[in-house]
Amino acid sequence: MDWKLTADQSMIREMVREFADAEIAPHAAEWDRRKEFPSATFEQLGELGLFGMVVPEEWGGAGLDGTAYCLALEELGRVDASTCVAISVTNSVYCAPVNKFGTDAQKDRWLRPCASGQWLGAFCLSEPDAGSDAAGLTTRAERRGDDYVLNGSKAWITSGEVCGAMLVFAVSGEVAGKPEFSAFIVPREHDGVAIIHREEKMGLRSSCTNQVGFEDCVLSSDHLLGNEGDGLKIALDSLDGGRAGIAAQSVGIAQGAFDVAHSYLQERDAFGGPIGRFEGLRHELGRMAAEIRAGRLLYLRAATLRDRGLRNTRQAAIAKLHASEASNRIAYQAVQMHGGYGYVTDYDVERFYRDARVTTIYEGTSEIQRLVIARAVLQSATGA
Ligand code: CAA
Repeated sequence: MDWKLTADQSMIREMVREFADAEIAPHAAEWDRRKEFPSATFEQLGELGLFGMVVPEEWGGAGLDGTAYCLALEELGRVDASTCVAISVTNSVYCAPVNKFGTDAQKDRWLRPCASGQWLGAFCLSEPDAGSDAAGLTTRAERRGDDYVLNGSKAWITSGEVCGAMLVFAVSGEVAGKPEFSAFIVPREHDGVAIIHREEKMGLRSSCTNQVGFEDCVLSSDHLLGNEGDGLKIALDSLDGGRAGIAAQSVGIAQGAFDVAHSYLQERDAFGGPIGRFEGLRHELGRMAAEIRAGRLLYLRAATLRDRGLRNTRQAAIAKLHASEASNRIAYQAVQMHGGYGYVTDYDVERFYRDARVTTIYEGTSEIQRLVIARAVLQSATGA
Protein backbone atom coordinates (compact mmCIF):
# COMPACT_ATOMS: atom_id res chain seq x y z
CA MET A 1 0.00 0.00 0.00
CA ASP A 2 1.39 3.39 -0.96
CA TRP A 3 0.86 5.83 1.90
CA LYS A 4 0.26 9.35 0.69
CA LEU A 5 0.99 11.78 3.50
CA THR A 6 -0.92 15.05 3.76
CA ALA A 7 0.95 18.35 3.46
CA ASP A 8 0.78 18.80 7.26
CA GLN A 9 2.08 15.30 7.94
CA SER A 10 5.02 15.74 5.53
CA MET A 11 5.80 19.18 6.94
CA ILE A 12 5.89 17.91 10.54
CA ARG A 13 8.10 14.99 9.58
CA GLU A 14 10.57 17.34 7.83
CA MET A 15 10.55 19.86 10.65
CA VAL A 16 11.18 17.24 13.35
CA ARG A 17 13.81 15.52 11.19
CA GLU A 18 15.74 18.78 10.77
CA PHE A 19 15.48 19.62 14.47
CA ALA A 20 16.48 16.09 15.50
CA ASP A 21 19.54 16.07 13.22
CA ALA A 22 20.69 19.57 14.21
CA GLU A 23 19.82 19.83 17.92
CA ILE A 24 19.51 16.29 19.31
CA ALA A 25 21.72 13.86 17.35
CA PRO A 26 25.02 15.67 18.13
CA HIS A 27 24.35 15.48 21.91
CA ALA A 28 22.36 12.27 22.45
CA ALA A 29 25.36 10.02 23.22
CA GLU A 30 26.71 12.50 25.77
CA TRP A 31 23.30 12.91 27.48
CA ASP A 32 23.10 9.12 27.65
CA ARG A 33 26.59 8.83 29.14
CA ARG A 34 25.83 11.49 31.75
CA LYS A 35 22.22 10.27 32.31
CA GLU A 36 21.26 13.89 31.85
CA PHE A 37 17.69 14.98 31.09
CA PRO A 38 18.16 17.75 28.46
CA SER A 39 15.84 20.43 29.90
CA ALA A 40 16.90 23.19 27.46
CA THR A 41 16.18 20.96 24.45
CA PHE A 42 12.76 20.11 25.90
CA GLU A 43 12.03 23.83 26.16
CA GLN A 44 12.71 24.06 22.42
CA LEU A 45 10.58 20.97 21.71
CA GLY A 46 7.74 22.57 23.68
CA GLU A 47 8.07 25.80 21.70
CA LEU A 48 7.90 23.76 18.47
CA GLY A 49 4.49 22.45 19.59
CA LEU A 50 5.59 18.85 20.17
CA PHE A 51 4.03 18.32 23.64
CA GLY A 52 0.38 18.43 22.60
CA MET A 53 0.46 17.56 18.93
CA VAL A 54 -3.05 16.07 18.72
CA VAL A 55 -4.62 18.69 21.01
CA PRO A 56 -6.77 21.32 19.22
CA GLU A 57 -5.25 24.78 18.92
CA GLU A 58 -7.96 26.26 21.18
CA TRP A 59 -6.40 24.28 24.06
CA GLY A 60 -2.83 25.28 23.22
CA GLY A 61 -2.00 22.25 21.04
CA ALA A 62 -0.78 21.92 17.47
CA GLY A 63 -4.12 20.58 16.15
CA LEU A 64 -2.45 17.75 14.20
CA ASP A 65 -3.60 14.17 13.73
CA GLY A 66 -2.19 11.00 15.27
CA THR A 67 -0.42 10.08 12.04
CA ALA A 68 1.63 13.28 12.10
CA TYR A 69 2.36 12.60 15.77
CA CYS A 70 3.68 9.09 15.00
CA LEU A 71 5.84 10.38 12.13
CA ALA A 72 7.36 12.91 14.54
CA LEU A 73 8.07 10.14 17.07
CA GLU A 74 9.85 8.06 14.43
CA GLU A 75 12.13 11.02 13.63
CA LEU A 76 12.95 11.52 17.31
CA GLY A 77 13.46 7.77 17.89
CA ARG A 78 15.87 7.69 14.95
CA VAL A 79 18.35 9.88 16.85
CA ASP A 80 17.42 9.61 20.53
CA ALA A 81 14.89 7.17 22.02
CA SER A 82 15.16 8.91 25.43
CA THR A 83 13.86 12.23 24.10
CA CYS A 84 11.28 10.30 22.11
CA VAL A 85 9.75 8.47 25.08
CA ALA A 86 9.11 11.65 27.08
CA ILE A 87 7.45 13.23 24.03
CA SER A 88 5.42 10.06 23.48
CA VAL A 89 4.12 9.88 27.05
CA THR A 90 3.18 13.55 27.31
CA ASN A 91 1.27 13.42 24.01
CA SER A 92 -0.48 10.08 23.95
CA VAL A 93 -1.13 9.12 27.55
CA TYR A 94 -1.41 12.55 29.20
CA CYS A 95 -2.61 15.19 26.70
CA ALA A 96 -4.78 12.86 24.58
CA PRO A 97 -6.91 11.49 27.46
CA VAL A 98 -7.25 14.89 29.17
CA ASN A 99 -8.38 16.30 25.83
CA LYS A 100 -10.80 13.42 25.20
CA PHE A 101 -12.34 13.01 28.65
CA GLY A 102 -11.72 16.36 30.40
CA THR A 103 -14.16 19.19 31.04
CA ASP A 104 -13.43 22.65 29.64
CA ALA A 105 -12.33 23.80 33.10
CA GLN A 106 -9.91 20.85 33.42
CA LYS A 107 -8.52 21.49 29.94
CA ASP A 108 -7.98 25.14 30.70
CA ARG A 109 -6.10 24.34 33.90
CA TRP A 110 -4.23 21.10 33.14
CA LEU A 111 -4.15 20.66 29.36
CA ARG A 112 -3.39 24.11 27.98
CA PRO A 113 -0.05 24.59 29.83
CA CYS A 114 1.16 21.13 28.84
CA ALA A 115 -0.02 21.25 25.22
CA SER A 116 1.49 24.71 24.77
CA GLY A 117 4.89 23.42 25.90
CA GLN A 118 5.19 24.81 29.44
CA TRP A 119 5.54 21.41 31.10
CA LEU A 120 5.45 17.67 30.40
CA GLY A 121 2.73 15.24 31.44
CA ALA A 122 3.12 11.75 32.96
CA PHE A 123 0.99 8.58 33.16
CA CYS A 124 0.77 6.62 36.41
CA LEU A 125 -0.83 3.22 35.86
CA SER A 126 1.78 0.57 36.75
CA GLU A 127 2.73 -0.17 40.33
CA PRO A 128 5.59 -2.13 41.90
CA ASP A 129 3.26 -5.16 42.06
CA ALA A 130 0.94 -4.49 39.10
CA GLY A 131 2.29 -4.08 35.56
CA SER A 132 0.74 -6.30 32.88
CA ASP A 133 -2.27 -6.87 35.14
CA ALA A 134 -3.47 -3.29 34.98
CA ALA A 135 -6.63 -4.21 36.93
CA GLY A 136 -4.43 -5.48 39.79
CA LEU A 137 -3.44 -2.01 40.97
CA THR A 138 -3.88 -1.21 44.65
CA THR A 139 -3.45 2.59 44.90
CA ARG A 140 -6.65 3.80 46.59
CA ALA A 141 -8.70 6.96 46.15
CA GLU A 142 -11.05 7.15 49.11
CA ARG A 143 -13.94 9.53 49.15
CA ARG A 144 -13.82 11.98 52.08
CA GLY A 145 -16.70 14.47 51.83
CA ASP A 146 -16.32 16.19 48.45
CA ASP A 147 -12.64 15.19 48.20
CA TYR A 148 -10.66 12.07 47.30
CA VAL A 149 -7.65 10.95 49.33
CA LEU A 150 -4.98 9.15 47.32
CA ASN A 151 -2.64 6.58 48.91
CA GLY A 152 -0.25 4.20 47.15
CA SER A 153 2.77 4.14 44.88
CA LYS A 154 3.34 4.03 41.13
CA ALA A 155 6.28 2.53 39.26
CA TRP A 156 8.13 3.09 35.94
CA ILE A 157 6.80 6.62 35.57
CA THR A 158 8.39 8.34 32.59
CA SER A 159 9.16 12.02 33.38
CA GLY A 160 7.83 11.69 36.97
CA GLU A 161 10.38 14.11 38.40
CA VAL A 162 10.24 16.59 35.51
CA CYS A 163 6.51 16.68 34.74
CA GLY A 164 3.98 19.37 35.67
CA ALA A 165 1.08 16.97 36.19
CA MET A 166 0.30 13.26 35.97
CA LEU A 167 -2.68 11.11 35.21
CA VAL A 168 -3.07 8.70 38.14
CA PHE A 169 -5.25 5.58 38.19
CA ALA A 170 -6.61 4.28 41.49
CA VAL A 171 -9.23 2.03 43.03
CA SER A 172 -12.13 4.32 43.96
CA GLY A 173 -14.68 1.77 45.11
CA GLU A 174 -16.23 -1.61 44.48
CA VAL A 175 -19.06 -2.79 42.23
CA ALA A 176 -20.48 -6.30 42.59
CA GLY A 177 -17.44 -7.35 44.62
CA LYS A 178 -14.98 -6.10 41.97
CA PRO A 179 -12.73 -3.03 42.29
CA GLU A 180 -13.78 0.06 40.41
CA PHE A 181 -11.05 2.33 38.96
CA SER A 182 -10.97 6.08 38.43
CA ALA A 183 -8.50 8.49 36.81
CA PHE A 184 -7.24 11.66 38.50
CA ILE A 185 -5.21 14.60 37.25
CA VAL A 186 -2.57 15.25 39.92
CA PRO A 187 -0.17 18.21 39.80
CA ARG A 188 3.42 17.21 40.49
CA GLU A 189 3.74 20.00 43.09
CA HIS A 190 0.92 18.97 45.41
CA ASP A 191 0.84 17.99 49.09
CA GLY A 192 1.21 14.24 49.47
CA VAL A 193 3.04 13.65 46.16
CA ALA A 194 6.66 12.48 46.41
CA ILE A 195 9.28 11.22 43.98
CA ILE A 196 10.56 8.11 45.76
CA HIS A 197 13.48 7.38 43.46
CA ARG A 198 14.89 7.49 39.94
CA GLU A 199 15.62 4.15 38.24
CA GLU A 200 19.11 3.23 36.98
CA LYS A 201 18.37 1.86 33.53
CA MET A 202 20.01 -0.23 30.81
CA GLY A 203 18.85 2.20 28.11
CA LEU A 204 16.85 5.43 27.70
CA ARG A 205 19.33 6.77 30.21
CA SER A 206 18.67 10.45 29.63
CA SER A 207 14.94 10.06 30.26
CA CYS A 208 13.74 10.10 33.87
CA THR A 209 11.92 7.00 35.11
CA ASN A 210 10.62 7.34 38.65
CA GLN A 211 8.74 5.65 41.40
CA VAL A 212 6.12 8.10 42.67
CA GLY A 213 4.39 7.94 46.05
CA PHE A 214 1.04 9.34 47.17
CA GLU A 215 0.46 9.72 50.88
CA ASP A 216 -2.80 11.24 52.09
CA CYS A 217 -2.87 13.29 48.90
CA VAL A 218 -6.14 15.24 49.03
CA LEU A 219 -7.76 16.03 45.69
CA SER A 220 -10.93 18.01 45.20
CA SER A 221 -13.48 16.32 42.93
CA ASP A 222 -12.53 18.54 39.97
CA HIS A 223 -9.36 16.41 39.66
CA LEU A 224 -11.45 13.38 38.63
CA LEU A 225 -11.13 12.74 34.87
CA GLY A 226 -14.32 11.39 33.32
CA ASN A 227 -16.73 9.65 35.66
CA GLU A 228 -16.00 7.56 38.71
CA GLY A 229 -15.43 4.02 37.43
CA ASP A 230 -14.15 5.09 33.98
CA GLY A 231 -10.49 4.70 34.98
CA LEU A 232 -9.58 1.37 33.37
CA LYS A 233 -11.28 2.23 30.10
CA ILE A 234 -9.51 5.62 29.99
CA ALA A 235 -6.17 3.88 30.64
CA LEU A 236 -6.66 1.15 28.02
CA ASP A 237 -8.05 3.56 25.42
CA SER A 238 -5.06 5.88 25.98
CA LEU A 239 -2.70 2.93 25.55
CA ASP A 240 -4.21 2.18 22.12
CA GLY A 241 -2.89 5.60 21.04
CA GLY A 242 0.31 5.11 23.03
CA ARG A 243 1.12 1.73 21.46
CA ALA A 244 0.94 3.10 17.91
CA GLY A 245 3.42 5.74 19.09
CA ILE A 246 5.78 3.18 20.66
CA ALA A 247 5.64 1.26 17.36
CA ALA A 248 6.75 4.49 15.63
CA GLN A 249 9.50 5.00 18.21
CA SER A 250 10.67 1.40 17.61
CA VAL A 251 10.78 1.97 13.84
CA GLY A 252 12.84 5.10 14.51
CA ILE A 253 15.36 3.21 16.66
CA ALA A 254 15.57 0.50 13.98
CA GLN A 255 16.07 3.11 11.24
CA GLY A 256 18.81 4.80 13.28
CA ALA A 257 20.64 1.48 13.79
CA PHE A 258 20.13 0.57 10.12
CA ASP A 259 21.58 3.88 8.89
CA VAL A 260 24.75 3.48 10.97
CA ALA A 261 25.17 -0.14 9.82
CA HIS A 262 24.52 0.80 6.19
CA SER A 263 27.36 3.36 6.27
CA TYR A 264 29.68 0.99 8.08
CA LEU A 265 29.26 -1.70 5.42
CA GLN A 266 30.56 0.80 2.82
CA GLU A 267 33.47 2.14 4.87
CA ARG A 268 34.86 -0.94 6.64
CA ASP A 269 37.34 -2.98 4.60
CA ALA A 270 38.13 -6.66 5.22
CA PHE A 271 39.55 -9.38 2.99
CA GLY A 272 40.51 -6.80 0.36
CA GLY A 273 37.44 -4.54 0.10
CA PRO A 274 34.34 -3.10 1.81
CA ILE A 275 32.43 -5.69 3.84
CA GLY A 276 29.18 -4.56 2.16
CA ARG A 277 30.12 -6.73 -0.84
CA PHE A 278 29.53 -9.94 1.14
CA GLU A 279 26.26 -11.64 0.30
CA GLY A 280 25.58 -12.76 3.88
CA LEU A 281 25.62 -9.16 5.13
CA ARG A 282 23.56 -7.96 2.14
CA HIS A 283 20.89 -10.53 2.99
CA GLU A 284 20.78 -9.20 6.54
CA LEU A 285 20.56 -5.61 5.30
CA GLY A 286 17.66 -6.59 3.03
CA ARG A 287 15.83 -8.28 5.90
CA MET A 288 16.36 -5.21 8.11
CA ALA A 289 15.06 -2.83 5.42
CA ALA A 290 11.94 -4.99 4.90
CA GLU A 291 11.20 -5.19 8.64
CA ILE A 292 11.51 -1.40 9.00
CA ARG A 293 9.17 -0.77 6.06
CA ALA A 294 6.62 -3.25 7.46
CA GLY A 295 6.77 -1.60 10.89
CA ARG A 296 6.21 1.84 9.36
CA LEU A 297 3.16 0.68 7.41
CA LEU A 298 1.74 -1.00 10.51
CA TYR A 299 2.01 2.09 12.71
CA LEU A 300 0.61 4.30 9.95
CA ARG A 301 -2.36 1.93 9.66
CA ALA A 302 -2.98 1.92 13.42
CA ALA A 303 -2.71 5.73 13.61
CA THR A 304 -4.92 6.31 10.56
CA LEU A 305 -7.73 4.19 12.00
CA ARG A 306 -7.68 6.16 15.23
CA ASP A 307 -7.60 9.43 13.26
CA ARG A 308 -10.82 8.28 11.60
CA GLY A 309 -12.40 7.81 15.03
CA LEU A 310 -12.27 4.00 14.83
CA ARG A 311 -11.07 1.73 17.61
CA ASN A 312 -7.56 0.47 16.77
CA THR A 313 -6.83 -1.82 19.72
CA ARG A 314 -5.80 -4.80 17.57
CA GLN A 315 -3.93 -2.78 14.93
CA ALA A 316 -1.97 -0.84 17.57
CA ALA A 317 -1.04 -4.09 19.33
CA ILE A 318 0.08 -5.66 16.02
CA ALA A 319 2.13 -2.57 15.13
CA LYS A 320 3.80 -2.44 18.55
CA LEU A 321 4.48 -6.18 18.62
CA HIS A 322 6.08 -6.24 15.18
CA ALA A 323 7.99 -2.97 15.38
CA SER A 324 9.39 -3.48 18.89
CA GLU A 325 10.55 -7.04 18.21
CA ALA A 326 11.97 -6.03 14.82
CA SER A 327 13.87 -3.08 16.32
CA ASN A 328 15.54 -5.48 18.76
CA ARG A 329 16.55 -7.83 15.93
CA ILE A 330 17.79 -4.92 13.80
CA ALA A 331 19.78 -3.25 16.59
CA TYR A 332 21.29 -6.66 17.46
CA GLN A 333 22.33 -7.21 13.83
CA ALA A 334 23.68 -3.66 13.52
CA VAL A 335 25.97 -4.33 16.50
CA GLN A 336 27.01 -7.66 14.97
CA MET A 337 27.91 -6.00 11.65
CA HIS A 338 30.26 -3.64 13.52
CA GLY A 339 32.14 -6.49 15.22
CA GLY A 340 34.10 -5.23 18.23
CA TYR A 341 33.30 -1.62 17.29
CA GLY A 342 29.63 -2.37 17.87
CA TYR A 343 30.29 -3.29 21.49
CA VAL A 344 31.97 -0.01 22.41
CA THR A 345 30.56 3.50 22.35
CA ASP A 346 32.44 4.72 19.23
CA TYR A 347 29.32 4.11 17.13
CA ASP A 348 25.71 4.79 18.13
CA VAL A 349 24.62 1.17 17.55
CA GLU A 350 25.55 0.25 21.12
CA ARG A 351 23.10 2.88 22.42
CA PHE A 352 20.38 1.87 19.94
CA TYR A 353 20.78 -1.76 21.05
CA ARG A 354 20.27 -0.83 24.73
CA ASP A 355 17.42 1.57 23.94
CA ALA A 356 15.52 -0.92 21.77
CA ARG A 357 15.27 -3.45 24.59
CA VAL A 358 12.53 -1.70 26.56
CA THR A 359 10.20 -1.33 23.58
CA THR A 360 9.02 -4.93 23.97
CA ILE A 361 8.27 -4.21 27.64
CA TYR A 362 6.69 -0.80 28.23
CA GLU A 363 3.16 0.25 27.27
CA GLY A 364 2.34 -3.48 27.29
CA THR A 365 4.84 -6.32 26.88
CA SER A 366 4.98 -8.42 23.70
CA GLU A 367 3.13 -11.12 25.66
CA ILE A 368 0.27 -8.68 26.41
CA GLN A 369 0.17 -7.55 22.75
CA ARG A 370 -0.19 -11.21 21.66
CA LEU A 371 -2.99 -11.64 24.19
CA VAL A 372 -4.79 -8.50 22.97
CA ILE A 373 -4.39 -9.60 19.32
CA ALA A 374 -5.57 -13.16 20.06
CA ARG A 375 -8.67 -11.89 21.91
CA ALA A 376 -9.55 -9.63 18.97
CA VAL A 377 -8.93 -12.35 16.41
CA LEU A 378 -11.09 -14.84 18.32
CA GLN A 379 -13.92 -12.29 18.56
CA SER A 380 -13.90 -11.39 14.86
CA ALA A 381 -16.02 -13.33 12.39
CA THR A 382 -13.17 -14.01 9.97
CA GLY A 383 -10.25 -14.15 12.40
CA ALA A 384 -8.32 -11.91 9.98
N1 CAA B 1 -10.30 0.80 24.94
C1 CAA B 1 -11.36 1.08 25.73
N2 CAA B 1 -11.85 0.22 26.67
C2 CAA B 1 -11.21 -0.97 26.79
C3 CAA B 1 -10.08 -1.31 26.01
C4 CAA B 1 -9.64 -0.38 25.05
N3 CAA B 1 -8.59 -0.66 24.29
N4 CAA B 1 -9.66 -2.54 26.37
C5 CAA B 1 -10.49 -2.97 27.33
N5 CAA B 1 -11.42 -2.00 27.58
C6 CAA B 1 -12.50 -2.05 28.58
C7 CAA B 1 -13.25 -3.39 28.49
O1 CAA B 1 -14.33 -3.31 27.60
C8 CAA B 1 -13.69 -3.60 29.92
O2 CAA B 1 -14.85 -2.84 30.17
P1 CAA B 1 -16.11 -3.48 30.96
O3 CAA B 1 -15.60 -3.73 32.33
O4 CAA B 1 -17.17 -2.43 30.89
O5 CAA B 1 -16.46 -4.74 30.22
C9 CAA B 1 -12.56 -2.97 30.75
O6 CAA B 1 -11.90 -2.03 29.88
C10 CAA B 1 -11.54 -4.00 31.21
O7 CAA B 1 -11.07 -4.71 30.07
P2 CAA B 1 -10.64 -6.23 30.15
O8 CAA B 1 -11.71 -7.02 30.84
O9 CAA B 1 -10.23 -6.67 28.78
O10 CAA B 1 -9.39 -6.13 31.13
P3 CAA B 1 -8.40 -7.25 31.64
O11 CAA B 1 -8.22 -7.06 33.08
O12 CAA B 1 -8.76 -8.59 31.10
O13 CAA B 1 -6.96 -6.77 31.04
C11 CAA B 1 -5.19 -6.37 29.51
C12 CAA B 1 -6.71 -6.54 29.75
C13 CAA B 1 -5.07 -6.40 28.02
C14 CAA B 1 -4.33 -7.48 30.10
C15 CAA B 1 -4.78 -4.99 30.09
O14 CAA B 1 -4.71 -5.06 31.49
C16 CAA B 1 -3.44 -4.51 29.56
O15 CAA B 1 -3.36 -3.96 28.46
N6 CAA B 1 -2.34 -4.64 30.38
C17 CAA B 1 -1.07 -4.03 30.06
C18 CAA B 1 -0.99 -2.68 30.73
C19 CAA B 1 0.09 -1.80 30.14
O16 CAA B 1 0.23 -1.69 28.93
N7 CAA B 1 0.84 -1.13 31.02
C20 CAA B 1 1.84 -0.22 30.59
C21 CAA B 1 1.80 1.00 31.47
S1 CAA B 1 2.36 2.50 30.81
C22 CAA B 1 4.03 2.47 30.78
O17 CAA B 1 4.58 1.58 30.19
C23 CAA B 1 4.83 3.54 31.47
C24 CAA B 1 5.43 4.61 30.67
O18 CAA B 1 5.60 5.70 31.18
C25 CAA B 1 5.90 4.42 29.23
